[in-house]
Amino acid sequence: MQAAASVDYGYLRDMVFSLSQNVLDPSRDYLFDTRLTKILRNQSLSSLEELVQLLRIRKNPALERAIAEAMTINETSFFRDGRPFELLRTDLLPKLIEARRNTRALRFWSGACSTGQEAYSIAMLIREHFPLLASWNIRIEGTDICGEVVERAQAGTYHRIEMNRGLPARFVVRYFDHQGEDWTAKPELRQMCNFRQINLCGPSLPFHEKFDVIFLRNVMLYFSQETRRPLLANIHRLLAPDGLLFLGSSEQPADPSIWTPTLAGGTCHFKPKQPN
Ligand SMILES: C[S@@+](CC[C@H](N)C(=O)[O-])C[C@H]1O[C@@H](n2cnc3c(N)ncnc32)[C@H](O)[C@@H]1O
Repeated sequence: MQAAASVDYGYLRDMVFSLSQNVLDPSRDYLFDTRLTKILRNQSLSSLEELVQLLRIRKNPALERAIAEAMTINETSFFRDGRPFELLRTDLLPKLIEARRNTRALRFWSGACSTGQEAYSIAMLIREHFPLLASWNIRIEGTDICGEVVERAQAGTYHRIEMNRGLPARFVVRYFDHQGEDWTAKPELRQMCNFRQINLCGPSLPFHEKFDVIFLRNVMLYFSQETRRPLLANIHRLLAPDGLLFLGSSEQPADPSIWTPTLAGGTCHFKPKQPN
């Protein structure tokens, strides 16, 4: 697909970068044409040229944010790249549970949760394999920059096709109620999860308590090296000293001096190194 030559895509790319830190490659400029049609319609505009003109004339933070959100890639699925979940089940969670037996609390964060499947996968893993944790204080935070996907995560409702991607049939019937082609996570899962709209690259991350496990998967690949470094430093601060970080299979922490990688179960996870 070809992008329209008359549109100043560079202006739109720079704007998206300044708001979400997502680096968009010029070879994919055509995505602006396909993804901004709803915004054009809502603004009663007939072309991207008009949109750029409007943005140049008058600052409109809400419209700019809507554009940045519309350009996010929200691809996800239940138990995506299954190995981190399997490793948590067989090895890492039993150890964390032992380490937290006095506080009886565990905090998880799905840091770019999209429509919520990652967070609900953690919730199902816990309910299915660690019945002991039913009496513990378990919190799963799911956050994403895109308001629309956060709303979908909060609703916890998925189409049959989304359910068929990665979710074992017994989990479907045990943890979801269905109505026609849609399935909604049962309250027992929804109560464990809390979804909010948060920009990972905003001025500060609104968390005070540390997390035991952070999933920050398949989001850093959209950021520049300069963005990844301070983000990973913030993540380091938010992780318990014996906490665990999972990145996407093609992602690495920007600063290896503060992370210890461990290869296990066919996947890599990271522990925060502590200052001497
Ligand atoms: C490809 S999805 C990954 C979803 C999930 N973590 C997974 O691996 O299946 C990437 C998500 O990152 C979100 N995202 C992109 N930039 C972000 C930012 N600056 N802050 C928070 N979330 C962001 C997007 O909205 C999108 O939902």
